[in-house]
Amino acid sequence: MTQLMNENGIRCDGRRVDQLRNISIKVGVLKNADGSAYIEFGKNKILAGVFGPRDVHPKHMANQDSGILRCRYHMSPFSVTERKNPAPSRREIEISKVIKEALLPAVILKDFPRTVVDVFIEVLQADGGTRCAALDAASIALVDAGIPMRDLVSACAAGKVADQIVLDINNEEDQEGQADMPIAYMPNLGKITLMQLDGILSPSEYKKCVQTGINGCKLVYEMQRKALMDKYFTNEIQ
Ligand code: CDP
Repeated sequence: MTQLMNENGIRCDGRRVDQLRNISIKVGVLKNADGSAYIEFGKNKILAGVFGPRDVHPKHMANQDSGILRCRYHMSPFSVTERKNPAPSRREIEISKVIKEALLPAVILKDFPRTVVDVFIEVLQADGGTRCAALDAASIALVDAGIPMRDLVSACAAGKVADQIVLDINNEEDQEGQADMPIAYMPNLGKITLMQLDGILSPSEYKKCVQTGINGCKLVYEMQRKALMDKYFTNEIQ
């Protein structure tokens, strides 16, 4: 068993309990997608590409009154230590679903009836918290594609490690810690769009964990904003 926290409250990767991993986000990295983003969230490396709004295929999936959103979360075979089978697993199907549901409250698709917006997510390297990091990249890629949005979606997990509530669980903490709670949040609207919990928390730990996760989402939001400003503001003044 790895020691997840030392006597000074420092975690196995050197972070404090309320500290995020290093995050870097780049907007518009794929020339063939309508919008795209690349995120490094600690050791996670994830690409998101958005196509649309465009015609829906198969046509029977089209909605006459609104556009629809589809998401595919995929892990490449080399993204984890044990080669992952490239075929979609149950876990990837579940994560694709929760990512779509976490983005849906933010996107405004009513002006694009009979169309689809597709979000493709490729996990190139995974180290715990990929659904949150994928959501952060997908949300930025949607903005980059010019999809109207009510707010950005910012995501980050909190959890319980060595009996303490901590921000942003890494892979080791996910495997050996006591609880993992991924949260997605719309920071300007103050609304949670995803909350899952793997593990057991007391009512007071639960409250603290939700608040810790939301605080993390607000920090991620600032980095998402900066990444967008870096692309669009810099291009404008060039
Ligand atoms: O990535 P996330 O925390 O959102 O989802 P998870 O199902 O809790 O997975 C936690 C971590 O387990 C992933 O981020 C990967 O690092 C690792 N994993 C793996 O090693 N092999 C897999 N087939 C799936 C996940």
